[in-house]
Amino acid sequence: MTAFHLNDKTILVTGASSGIGMQTAISISKMGGKLILTGRNKENLKTTLSQLNGEGHKLIVADLLKEDERNKLIEELPMVDGIVHSAGTVNPFPIKFIDQEKLNETMNINYEIPVLLMAGVMRKKKINPKASIVFLSSVSGQHPHKGGSLYASSKAALEAFSKALALEVYLQGIRSNCVSPAMVKTAMYDVAEKGMSKEIMDEHISQYPLGVGYPEDVANAIIFLLSDASRWITGINITLDGGFILQ
Ligand SMILES: NC(=O)c1ccc[n+]([C@@H]2O[C@H](COP(=O)([O-])OP(=O)(O)OC[C@H]3O[C@@H](n4cnc5c(N)ncnc54)[C@H](OP(=O)(O)O)[C@@H]3O)[C@@H](O)[C@H]2O)c1
Repeated sequence: MTAFHLNDKTILVTGASSGIGMQTAISISKMGGKLILTGRNKENLKTTLSQLNGEGHKLIVADLLKEDERNKLIEELPMVDGIVHSAGTVNPFPIKFIDQEKLNETMNINYEIPVLLMAGVMRKKKINPKASIVFLSSVSGQHPHKGGSLYASSKAALEAFSKALALEVYLQGIRSNCVSPAMVKTAMYDVAEKGMSKEIMDEHISQYPLGVGYPEDVANAIIFLLSDASRWITGINITLDGGFILQ
């Protein structure tokens, strides 16, 4: 039996209604894992559910910005062997346009949601020993792009949180890591393209030696981090960028 399988593992995936979260859930099910899917859009979550291999998966609709819905998710959650924090947002604009509302929007979704969710799940002791936690950061966390100040800062904060978490949970054999993709073809890619222009985005992608990323590319790295094949890895950040930062 390969160490990369996810048999007998129950994994919570946030942002499972779209993009990387949706594909990660589908890929996890192909590796034998049981899924708890969460997101706000019930119809999209059902679409994800319909594409999963195997039985026994569960869907919990929740707006994770709302404390009561976050608590309800945590209450309904079975014991988990892994969490993939994929819910996130991107809203690029120059620094002179930052106001309190924009700051809150990015930090609340990209930083506060995963932090408060982890705190709640740990308080309710819903994490099995030897579990694996994976946060979706971004290559911007270490290599910010023009116009992406809030997004990059929110991801850098998340990376620091993941390392601190790794230190707090290692005695239970629980691991915490990040993956940091460059541009991946999802709805978020389209939003980023609208915020710039197709020409600027095409020019950006032309700097990726291996071309643009796809959700499967990210899902495969996450599966490695969730599986026992990565049992000796914690507190790290895997860059997935098609060679972009080599350039
Ligand atoms: N795509 C990229 O190029 C790229 C690159 C680097 C890093 N990332 C990171 O990867 C993650 C996934 O990105 P993606 O491209 O898959 O994005 P996406 O397709 O836009 O999906 C975002 C997900 O976040 C969920 N979400 C947003 N606000 C939420 C809230 N308040 N409560 C619960 N769920 C909420 C959405 O749920 P609903 O649709 O149900 O509302 C959706 O499932 C993000 O953290 C992103 O920063 C993406």
